[in-house]
Amino acid sequence: MSNTSLNVLVTGAGGGMCRGINARLAAAGHTIICVDMNLELSEKAAMAVRNAGGKAAAFAADVADEAAVEQLRADVEATVGPVQALVNAAGILDRKYLADSTAESFRKALDVNLVGPFLLIKAFAPAMVDAGWGRIVNIASIAGTTGYPYPSYAASKAGLANMTRSLLEDFWGTGITINSICPGVVDTPMVIQEVRDQVRRRVPTQSIIDPEEIGALTAFLLTEDARNINGADLLIDGGATQLFSLVNNHAD
Ligand SMILES: NC(=O)c1ccc[n+]([C@@H]2O[C@H](COP(=O)([O-])OP(=O)(O)OC[C@H]3O[C@@H](n4cnc5c(N)ncnc54)[C@H](O)[C@@H]3O)[C@@H](O)[C@H]2O)c1
Repeated sequence: MSNTSLNVLVTGAGGGMCRGINARLAAAGHTIICVDMNLELSEKAAMAVRNAGGKAAAFAADVADEAAVEQLRADVEATVGPVQALVNAAGILDRKYLADSTAESFRKALDVNLVGPFLLIKAFAPAMVDAGWGRIVNIASIAGTTGYPYPSYAASKAGLANMTRSLLEDFWGTGITINSICPGVVDTPMVIQEVRDQVRRRVPTQSIIDPEEIGALTAFLLTEDARNINGADLLIDGGATQLFSLVNNHAD
């Protein structure tokens, strides 16, 4: 399979991180199938790709809705063609501690952040298996590898990284690789000012991650050079989770 001109379906395509993911994938020559909650968000993302000279199509679907995902598969395959790569980036962060969480709010995070990628993989992997080649990239989070104050988000992302590894069995010998990317603090609307203010003291590189850095890593995972990167949870966090330090010499 050639490295160029893949049909890449990106969920959460209208979000902040996907600005960088869409841009880098389009610059690599791929067609971006932008999927978000509503067509306005997806169209805006697709338009940004086209305005930069890339190829894109727009579709709306709630990733947590099984019927909507199945309809999405049918619509995409009928109008764009088979999907060779899937990037699961749609996600929600519910800033609730245990006391404020309900079973409903907890389930909602799991539905979007974990069941969503599961449904997308169920829907789009069979065509990759038939083609004997495919790429799946799940956007997890450092919140899933360390403890994190908002348990529904952390549990959903830990589950996503583990599901990524667990699916290696299903994709054994199929030509599909599946990986997750584990970002730290990325410059998107999801990140509140309080967190941005902590970056200098908490992240060894002292920098917030540009969405294009996540895009560059995603684009690499779609290449033949990355064919033996499989089942990894690729950390891109400026070193934030790699040092436990009780000294604090880094305040402004
Ligand atoms: N920003 C960060 O620092 C950071 C760090 C680690 C991981 N992440 C993860 O990266 C991904 C992208 O985050 P972002 O920062 O761009 O956030 P964002 O809020 O800007 O984008 C998320 C996008 O997902 C879409 N979405 C939400 N629920 C959906 C659903 N049910 N169906 C379809 N689309 C849905 C939203 O409409 C939005 O466009 C998320 O999975 C997030 O958890 C973000």
